[in-house]
Amino acid sequence: MQVLVVGSGGREHALAWKIAQSPLVDRVHCAPGNAGIAEVADCRPVKADDIDGLLELAKAEKFDLTVVGPEAPLCDGIVDAFEREGLKIFGPNQSCARVEGDKAFARELCQRHRIPSPSHWTFEEYPQAKAFLENREEGPIVVKASGLAAGKGVTVAESRAVALDAVRECMESGRFGDAGRRVVLEEFLEGEEVSVICITDGETILPLEPAQDHKQVFDGDKGPNTGGMGAFSPVPSVRGRILGQIETQVLLPAVHGLNQSGSAFRGFLYAGLMMTHGGPRVLEFNCRFGDPETQPLLMRMKSDIVPYLLATTEGKLGELEAPEWDPRIAVCVMATAGGYPGDYTKGMPILGLDTLEIGPDLQVFHSGTARRGGDVVTAGGRVLAACALGETLDEARARAYGVLEEIDFHGMHYRKDIGTRMDG
Ligand code: AMP
Ligand code: GLY
Repeated sequence: MQVLVVGSGGREHALAWKIAQSPLVDRVHCAPGNAGIAEVADCRPVKADDIDGLLELAKAEKFDLTVVGPEAPLCDGIVDAFEREGLKIFGPNQSCARVEGDKAFARELCQRHRIPSPSHWTFEEYPQAKAFLENREEGPIVVKASGLAAGKGVTVAESRAVALDAVRECMESGRFGDAGRRVVLEEFLEGEEVSVICITDGETILPLEPAQDHKQVFDGDKGPNTGGMGAFSPVPSVRGRILGQIETQVLLPAVHGLNQSGSAFRGFLYAGLMMTHGGPRVLEFNCRFGDPETQPLLMRMKSDIVPYLLATTEGKLGELEAPEWDPRIAVCVMATAGGYPGDYTKGMPILGLDTLEIGPDLQVFHSGTARRGGDVVTAGGRVLAACALGETLDEARARAYGVLEEIDFHGMHYRKDIGTRMDG
């Protein structure tokens, strides 16, 4: 079969790499892809948000399955458009994708289905949000633009003044456009963060192994939030009973609640959780696989992923056993362009890629790269990630960092402490 992967980041590189290993697949295509994806797939110059262009491509090439990586096309209804034309596509439809595209909607879902969450308050008007903050005790609070803001719409405000600024930026200055018109304020929670992603056809829910992301740009969780600077899996503190609790208290009610919005939730549902003393609390839901969580998770997934993708689109996930996992630890370290998540330059040649010795236990997944003549150059803020499996955390970390020492580009930055928070 011929499979199309939509997107151009590290998550899509890992997906294309994994799908290409399936004996069911003749060829993987990717739109638009990047320089690394081009090594495992045939890249097509159609952007991930060009739904009409993607539809035309999939029809013309008679692709058997399309797998959508990023949230924007899902929230814009790519699944609805493909299904109207009778094409097989993996991902939730537009009404279900609201769980990521509309944080106020996600919070209402939590409330309605008693999914453990921080206290939260939604505002449509600036004066009300301002008055609420002014009448509240001094202390930390979290400010979130309700719509999609490429991971930059959340401010963890340590004081009322910072929160007021963040609310003003969203609602008055229009920093996030329409996405910031509504604002959700949330109780500030402390604990260990973990990402638990499940694959579901709306009926059967198969949780994948837990992973942990590192969102801040600098070591020690300092600096602004990014799309993700590295991740590892498994997470030793999240297993057994706690994982069961996450399944029954979070994933199950969320999927069932979303099914009530008109049609079944089919795809990956990502729960971003804070493990507090009182148990897991939902920070966010995403309607897709995580980036960079996908990279370590797919390094560890031993089962062929394609039967799961197909069964999900057909509502037959219940016919499959849970996937098998490599018990080893996978660590993924992201290298970024200097300045990211603020302004950064593109087009820097990346040195050292040709001589790397990679294999099934060691991979470099490209996030923002492009080909320019014979060179691979940087083409985004997150550039590439070294991902390694190891019997121990130290072994996996040493191998991933060893790869990054071989690679160089102007302004290259990476965190040195990915995985060190792991507490065994
Ligand atoms: P989100 O996109 O909603 O997951 O938020 C981005 C990041 O902000 C999360 O990964 C957390 O590190 C932090 N965050 C979000 N909500 C809260 C909260 N209620 N309490 C503490 N930190 C939060
Ligand atoms: N790693 C965070 C995300 O994919 O949203």
